[in-house]
Parts: sequence; structure tokens; C-alpha cells
Amino acid sequence: MAALLPRTALSPALPLKARLTPLAFQLRARAPSHRTIISSAASPATEPEPQSLHTPQPARQKPLSPAQQAFLDKALRVNQAGELAATRIYTAQAPPLNKAYPHLRPLMKHMYDQEAGHFAYFNEVLAKHRIRPTLLYPMWQAASTILGWSTAVMGREAAMACTEAVETEIGEHYNGQVRELLLWMAQMEERGEVVGEELRRLVERIKVIRDEELEHLDHAVANDAKEAKPYELLTGVIRTGCRGAIWVSEKV
Ligand SMILES: [Fe+2]
Ligand SMILES: [Fe+2]
Repeated sequence: MAALLPRTALSPALPLKARLTPLAFQLRARAPSHRTIISSAASPATEPEPQSLHTPQPARQKPLSPAQQAFLDKALRVNQAGELAATRIYTAQAPPLNKAYPHLRPLMKHMYDQEAGHFAYFNEVLAKHRIRPTLLYPMWQAASTILGWSTAVMGREAAMACTEAVETEIGEHYNGQVRELLLWMAQMEERGEVVGEELRRLVERIKVIRDEELEHLDHAVANDAKEAKPYELLTGVIRTGCRGAIWVSEKV
């Protein structure tokens, strides 16, 4: 997203608001120290001309509310943790699976490459907006490696059942975010506000990532995820674990 900014937008000579992209401005705007306070003693030169009171004003872009900021902080933190876990699962699954089922190598690489792209994107978003990663980052790293390796040594079906379970949960998680962000955008438009280009791009990118996760789910089912034994127990435990990890990562 940093690439969206022209070089001059980063110039320290510009005022803070001018240097920030709309979403970055919205993130900064929550801090009282960054708000401009206009006192009642403002000089007459700063007051609007009477004519402007009767001229239709152009639509304005407003900062997100504190509740919206809190939602985005949590959602993006969970997204990064989820993509970290996905890359570690595929990294751990690949050696045993590729050895036992060489025909799966291109599929495993394809899914890993997409997960690596998702992870890089959310790393960039968190860094840009100064959102801290989950404090349990090292724990999810270890847990997802163990999950990937153990399901892969159980066999192809178990490995695919793991992908099916994880992608079902993460797909629902992304769907919830897309619904919420589209609702915000509709409400902004109803109020006559401008929806920032950066917010639009974020929603579009999450939709693409959500679709790729659902594509992984389809690949898993096509590769006999439902033949795993014991399928119900395995997917039930993994899905519960994913929901727990999402819940915890939202909070810490
Ligand atoms: Fe992903
Ligand atoms: Fe995925």
C-alpha cells in the first residue's frame, strides 16, 4: 500500500495530514494530540466567507470512529496471525507430503505461494499503520508447524482435512470482515462522505485473499479431505483450535 503514495507525499516538509494516506490519516486521527483544535478566539481571517455558507460543500472524508479503529486493529492483527499460521502449516506439510505423494508438489507450492503473498501483505499493512502483532506470535508459529507436520505424517487425507478445516474458519473470518467494511462504506456514502481509496483497496484485497482461501478449501476437498480418519474428530479439533486462536489474537 505504501507504493500507492507518490514520493512527494512522504516529504517531511509537508503537514502531517498531507503526508498520510486516507486510512493512515484515519488511524492517526484517533490520537487527541494529532487533532487540530479550533478555539472560539480564531482570527476573523480563518472564518468562512458568508458566501461559503450557502454554497454546497464538497463531500468530505472523515476519520474512522474509535470503535471502527478498534475493529480494524483486531481484524488485521488476526489476519496476520492467520497467514503466519498458514505459511507454517504448508511449510511443515510439504516435505512429508511431497515425498509420499510427488503429484501433490505443484499444488502444495501453489497454495504456499499464495499464503506467503497474504502474509507479506498483512505484514506490510501492520507495519504501515503501526498495529502490533499478536503477543502470541511465537506460540502460533510453533503450534501451526506441529499441526502441519503431524497431519502430513498421518497421510494425504489428514493433511487435506487440516486445510479444509483451517480454510473453512479463515474463510468465515474474512467474510465477516468484508461484510463489516462494506457496511461502513455504504453508511459513509449515505452520509455523503467520501470513502477513502485506501479503505476501498483494503476491502478489495481482503476479498481476493478470501477467495484464494476458499480455493484452497476446494483443492482439499477434491484431494479427499473427507476420507481422513477420523474426519469429524480431526476437523472438529482443528476448527475449534482456529476459533480459539482468532479469539485470543483479537485480544492480545
Ligand atoms: Fe491465506
Ligand atoms: Fe489458505
